[in-house]
Amino acid sequence: MGIPEDFLKREDLRSQMFGDVWRTLIPEVFRDVPAYYDKGNAVASLGSCAWWSTRFARAIHKRLPPNAKVLDVCSGTHDIPLKLLSFDPTLEIHTVDGSPHMTQEGQRRAAERNLVIHAQVCDAHTLPFPDNSFDAVTLQFASRHLEIIRAFKEIQRVLKPGGIFCHDDMLRPSSRIIEVPYLAYLRFMVWFTAKLFGSTAESMKCVGYFADAIHHFYTPQEMADLLRGIGFVDVETHSFMTGVMSYHISRKPLS
Ligand SMILES: C[S@@+](CC[C@H](N)C(=O)[O-])C[C@H]1O[C@@H](n2cnc3c(N)ncnc32)[C@H](O)[C@@H]1O
Repeated sequence: MGIPEDFLKREDLRSQMFGDVWRTLIPEVFRDVPAYYDKGNAVASLGSCAWWSTRFARAIHKRLPPNAKVLDVCSGTHDIPLKLLSFDPTLEIHTVDGSPHMTQEGQRRAAERNLVIHAQVCDAHTLPFPDNSFDAVTLQFASRHLEIIRAFKEIQRVLKPGGIFCHDDMLRPSSRIIEVPYLAYLRFMVWFTAKLFGSTAESMKCVGYFADAIHHFYTPQEMADLLRGIGFVDVETHSFMTGVMSYHISRKPLS
């Protein structure tokens, strides 16, 4: 089927608009937030991020056999690995994230629970693993900050044939009636939480970016089409409020 032409154009536009933010400001933001990341999310999303990510983790767990080898990309403070290991401690979980600060906080949380998570600090567009390594790859609340086609192809490369790709993010709502007030709300709440938790000047520069990045991102239907275009099959879409949050589970073909 191939990647639709308008998605290739949108990726060019996203890179032009946000490339500098991704390379310079995002690492600064995630240097700033590890200690208050969960609280900030809870305030900004009125608790819905934690509720949705638990639903996502349960859906992944239902599809994984014991001892499965899992990679969590852009793992941050290891939210998904910690949830998955609480459901099934036999899983072997690896993570990558660009921020040493977020990774350190995730490793602290794992050690507190006597859990082992194999973490590496690196860029999500170049995964340090051989082809066909994992039964599942997960990616939550981060693809808005990535060159998504490059990152998804890399994820496909490291998945074993038949392995699952579980993606969860705040997408562009498919209903304008929801999108317009939601993005206005998000703009205010990101500013409010940044002020409340005393973010640095660098992080404050990113306040408008979060809503802009969603406006130029994909709706749930477009995300499903993008996954199919890249070559994933059996694509399932699960959405909350037409895409305010949405997860997709898809599979790398057997051959
Ligand atoms: C909003 S946090 C999400 C963390 C985690 N997945 C979760 O659900 O809580 C986004 C994470 O993506 C990471 N990130 C952003 N761009 C990245 C890149 N190019 N390579 C690796 N990690 C990246 C950030 O460092 C940050 O930890």
